[in-house]
Amino acid sequence: ATNRTFTMIKPDAVRNGHIGAILEQINAGGFKIVAMKYTKLSAEKAGEFYAVHAERPFYGELVEFMSSGPIVAAILEKDNAVADFRTLIGATNPADAAEGTIRKRFATSIGENAVHGSDSDENAAIEGSFHFAGTDVFA
Ligand code: CMP
Repeated sequence: ATNRTFTMIKPDAVRNGHIGAILEQINAGGFKIVAMKYTKLSAEKAGEFYAVHAERPFYGELVEFMSSGPIVAAILEKDNAVADFRTLIGATNPADAAEGTIRKRFATSIGENAVHGSDSDENAAIEGSFHFAGTDVFA
């Protein structure tokens, strides 16, 4: 799945009314949406999704935030999807994100940073199947 990545528009960006602008920037960046849903993570589901960060000091805050409101989850397709999407969204901390990136435009802080993007092809596949059945993906 080298041509796919997984994203979430996080609760801060949804609350702040940025779903449309973010999807527009994703499309303008050359990504095709092949699966998408508006949903809300329970604390349990958020904890499971971010289990890899369970030992980090910010884990509790991360789980609480990610289950604090609805999100948009999507699988995106493009050549070199994982790396190109990370370029499009910018650095984890919006203070360090390049001008014009999604996080520079829409994120509030390192925790409330508007969007998620997978960090590897392997995690893109794992995260995509966490949220979507194969029958919900339309390439
Ligand atoms: P994301 O790429 O979705 O995956 C892990 C998340 O942890 C990351 O985005 C950040 O939002 C969050 N995170 C990383 N560092 C911190 C931190 N120091 N404090 C709060 N949240 C953090």
